[in-house]
Amino acid sequence: MSPTVQKMKIAVMASGRGSNFIAIQEAILSGKLKAQIAVLVSDQQGSPVLRRAEQYGIPTRCFDMKAFADRAAYETAIVECLREHAVELVALAGYMRIVGPVLLQAYPQRIVNIHPALLPAFPGMHAQRQAVEYGVKISGCTIHLVDEGVDTGPVILQAAVPVLPGDDEERLATRILVEEHKLYPRVLQYFAEGRIEVQGRQVTIMPPR
Ligand code: GRF
Repeated sequence: MSPTVQKMKIAVMASGRGSNFIAIQEAILSGKLKAQIAVLVSDQQGSPVLRRAEQYGIPTRCFDMKAFADRAAYETAIVECLREHAVELVALAGYMRIVGPVLLQAYPQRIVNIHPALLPAFPGMHAQRQAVEYGVKISGCTIHLVDEGVDTGPVILQAAVPVLPGDDEERLATRILVEEHKLYPRVLQYFAEGRIEVQGRQVTIMPPR
């Protein structure tokens, strides 16, 4: 009998809609991503993503920052939850908070985020609106490691989309989202295969073993 291969345990952290969470879970269900979402963590009571996770039968936890003395206490509770679920990698998917030192130190180079622009262009909020207003002809999405800055961590992978005449924030966001939903599961699979190597700002995707 072949030994059981342990699937990489991921926590998805999300604040809202959860379309990236769904894309990740669907990739798991279809066998493209050999991992398991051990827990869905949200900071927003009643957010749609919590309901979707429950529908999939994935454990959910909600942490209301206001219930804690400070960010360190809030993140300490989250880290405890992640450890309880033996989480190996944290995937932020529309998690609308800055990650602080407690989480970063608990999961060094094991927290990833998706941003709807080609970083370092247009970090922060409303990246798609920033791109349209600036007048760039190409935008896209970036998956990066999370560090102490806002969207400043080492880039893992990017996908580009055209910005078309007549685009507004919403139209561009919709076009980028299609790529986000493909890119995130792909990057997570690279992690699952142990193919991500990080040296300073340089992230290399190693060939399959
Ligand atoms: C996505 O555009 C993602 O790039 C950004 O927040 C949005 C989350 O969307 N970080 P969803 O909740 O995954 O639908």
